[in-house]
Formats: sequence, C-alpha cells, structure tokens
Amino acid sequence: MALRLIAEPLAPRHLDDLERLLGDPRVGATLGGTSSRAQAAESIAEHEGHRARHGFSYCAFFEPVTDAFVGRGGLCRFVANGREEVEVGWAVVPERWGQGIGTAIAQHSVEEAFGEHGLADVIALTLPHNVASRRVMEKAAFAYEADVMHAGMAHVLYRRSSGGR
Ligand SMILES: CC(C)(COP(=O)(O)OP(=O)(O)OC[C@H]1O[C@@H](n2cnc3c(N)ncnc32)[C@H](O)[C@@H]1OP(=O)(O)O)[C@@H](O)C(=O)NCCC(=O)NCCS
Repeated sequence: MALRLIAEPLAPRHLDDLERLLGDPRVGATLGGTSSRAQAAESIAEHEGHRARHGFSYCAFFEPVTDAFVGRGGLCRFVANGREEVEVGWAVVPERWGQGIGTAIAQHSVEEAFGEHGLADVIALTLPHNVASRRVMEKAAFAYEADVMHAGMAHVLYRRSSGGR
C-alpha cells in the first residue's frame, strides 16, 4: 500500500525542522548548497506569500502515528525553459532516505495539483546526476522531456500530465 503522509503548509512553526533539513550538507549537495536558519525562515515566508497568491505552496510532511517530520516539498509556480510552469519539489531528511518518502511527497503533490487545483500538468527539475530524484520522478509517473538550463546549471526536466497514471 502507498505510504501516506500528513502535509502542513509551510509556516513559522516548522522553522526548526526546516533548518535541520536544509542545513544538512547531504541535502544541500543537490539543492545548490545548505541554508542557514535565516535562509530557512526566508523560504518559509516566500512559500507563505506564494500560497496567498496562488492557493498552494510547499508543505512540511509528517509521518502519521509517530508525527515525525520527514521532509518538505510540494507545488511552486515559476518559469522553466521559458514557460510558466508548476513544479513539484521534494527533500527528505537523510536518515529516512530510501523508504519511499520522496515518492510519497511527489504523489501527494501530484494529487493536489490535479484534484484540488485542476492543473493540466506539472513538471519536476533536477540535476542530471541526482539519480535518487530522477527515480522519484519515474516512480511518480513523470516522463523525461528535455535537458534545460535552470538557475545557471544544466538540469533535466520531467513532466506529468493529468491524463497520465
Ligand atoms: C531525492 C530524495 C528526495 C529521494 O527521497 P527518498 O525518500 O529516498 O525517495 P524514495 O525512497 O521514494 O525513492 C528513492 C529511489 O531512488 C533510488 N536511489 C537512491 N539513490 C540511488 C542511487 N545512488 N542510484 C540509483 N538509485 C538510487 C532508491 O533505490 C529508490 O528507488 P527504488 O524504490 O526503486 O529502490 C532524497 O534523496 C533527498 O532529499 N535528496 C536531497 C534533496 C534533493 O535532491 N531533492 C530533489 C531536488 S530536485
């Protein structure tokens, strides 16, 4: 059975968890570097603003029963490869890698995008060598679309359409 997580829209109460996640060098290695506590707070404020404008944002994810914080991710609007897109992002606390949590965040976000928000498609971007993230994309039924430049670095772009699985 698919792993289900509890999603809470990112808010200041998640700062300690987010600082721990984004300050970890294992996570920063594929996210353009680690973040300080101040940068994590800034990120929370940005996602709160994004939710106010667009009705969705990144969330903090918790495991049912234990209530443990396991990662952050969700939906974010931005321009990729010259097009307005909604991207699905994910990051998981390293102690819990390989347990299906990244895929559960991806699937939760895709269901929200197609169900609650009626989007036609969503994308995901990652560095070409980030095999774990590419595997999450495949398991969440995203299909490779293109090699693109993003934030000054080569990335791979995957897409999932609402007509897909
Ligand atoms: C990418 C990330 C979210 C994956 O989270 P996760 O909870 O481990 O993901 P899952 O367990 O759902 O799936 C990971 C898959 O990648 C595979 N994988 C992991 N490392 C791998 C490697 N080096 N080579 C091949 N496959 C690998 C796992 O085996 C698993 O596939 P499987 O279920 O078929 O065995 C996590 O590694 C992370 O937070 N990385 C740092 C942040 C990041 O890179 N975010 C994405 C930015 S685009």
